[in-house]
Amino acid sequence: MALPTETVYGLAADAADPRTVARVYAVKGRPADHPLILHIADGHDLDRWVRDVAEYARRLAEHGWPGPLTLVLPRSAEVGDWVTGGQDTVAIRVPDHALALAILRGFGGAVAAPSANRFGCVSPTSADHVRHDIGQYLDPQRDVVVDGGPCWVGVESTIVACTGPAPVILRPGRVSAAEVERWGGVPVAAAAANAPRVSGTLQSHYSPRAGVEIVSGEEVGAHGDSGTVGLVALADVETPPGIVRLVAPDTEAEYARGLYAALREADALQLERVFAVPPPGDDGLARAIRDRLTRAAARR
Ligand code: TXA
Ligand code: MG
Repeated sequence: MALPTETVYGLAADAADPRTVARVYAVKGRPADHPLILHIADGHDLDRWVRDVAEYARRLAEHGWPGPLTLVLPRSAEVGDWVTGGQDTVAIRVPDHALALAILRGFGGAVAAPSANRFGCVSPTSADHVRHDIGQYLDPQRDVVVDGGPCWVGVESTIVACTGPAPVILRPGRVSAAEVERWGGVPVAAAAANAPRVSGTLQSHYSPRAGVEIVSGEEVGAHGDSGTVGLVALADVETPPGIVRLVAPDTEAEYARGLYAALREADALQLERVFAVPPPGDDGLARAIRDRLTRAAARR
């Protein structure tokens, strides 16, 4: 089942069923050692899926859930190797999306779900994106794409490792490092070299076919006019003649919400390149947007 969440659409499977989870890997084309995120309806069930929960991690769950915050914790005996890629930790979150929560509540268990795109590609933020990316790999007899409308966050959740004395941010998202510090009451630590594997942190990821180049607002003006170049930037950055404006958000929240659709639009228009001017700021959504653009730009 493709499941809407507030961040991006997920490709959901009963976490207790290794065969269904295996199908998720097959449909995504994802290497089997890349772990999935567990989605649950209620943070009070946390101890069913994880153990040795640090006090700061409990506070993060209390403040951040439901919401775009994923915690990595030691897994309980209920979580199988097929979800974690054999690691002894598991990623878990409560999504902030009424339809997802209703489905999770009705189901009762944990749902393992990666983003519902093919491995390495841009995450889907609408049901149409899901059908476009993986529709051909779904079985119309048993798979459904639940349409919950466009995702209102638009970039994947913040992933926080809670396996040491201090939280470590593995993937930036809407929940900022400042919020993690405030909510958890512990300063955030830098990622260690032996940090857990996160496919979304592979250097090249979240890539459209078009080549993405990160530029400043001033640099955009110097380029132009080939007709095969797109621009992603806040509304206050002007579009030089001959460049295709893909999106012109007024705020970083709107930027995040429209980013992946804009990169998809670039491919639909068969643009060769996309200039991207990240929004100012270095935490929360601004940091997440810069992170995804940098990974999209690292391709090839
Ligand atoms: O917003 C989101 O997080 C979306 C929605 C659907 O919930 N999900 C998502 O899933 O982005 P996915 O599979 O595309 O990315 C999950 C990330 C991967 O980078 C994976 O490596 C990391 O979570 N991850 C999962 N389990 C982990 C673990 N035990 N330790 C470290 N990273 C883990
Ligand atoms: Mg993904």
